[in-house]
Amino acid sequence: MQALLAAVRGAFAGVAVAAPFLAEWPEAGVTRILEPVTLPVCRWLAAMPDGGVMGALKAEAQRLQWRQTYGAGDFGAAFLAGYGWSEFIGLRGPVASERIACGVLLLAPGTVYPAHAHAAAEVYLPISGVAEWRRGDAGFGRVAVGQAVHHPSWMPHAMRVGAEPLAALYLWRGGDLAAKSVILGR
Ligand SMILES: [Fe+2]
Repeated sequence: MQALLAAVRGAFAGVAVAAPFLAEWPEAGVTRILEPVTLPVCRWLAAMPDGGVMGALKAEAQRLQWRQTYGAGDFGAAFLAGYGWSEFIGLRGPVASERIACGVLLLAPGTVYPAHAHAAAEVYLPISGVAEWRRGDAGFGRVAVGQAVHHPSWMPHAMRVGAEPLAALYLWRGGDLAAKSVILGR
């Protein structure tokens, strides 16, 4: 877990918009031992490259607790088959923080994550795959690996994943760090 945390912190280190989040990065290490839980979307990790932060994630993936915030009533069963996240830092993750949350989101090829919003400000950093992102009222725009996406508090956002599965690191700051997003579209 320490290697993954170091790689994640390093990945965000060059992202200017992530600086206020990194300023809250907890000093203490792992304090919660979580039972590993896998999800159907985790099978796509095998299709993602090794090396760098992605390699660190793949090395740790089987020991992580993979979770879902939504149920079948939100975006349907097909969405749940291609969606999951794991929290590294936060109210629930192995490293405790009440100031920030940090983890990774996985989305299978072809997944559409409809518009949603939350009180926390958020920075996404794709580490594998190409997705289209929609922020606020703007149209969908392609986001490449290493290209950070910032959602200020309550900015609606949506994602569409193409032929490659997506892995994207996230940071949350402010608001309820364990809140379920408000769904704005389906
Ligand atoms: Fe979000």
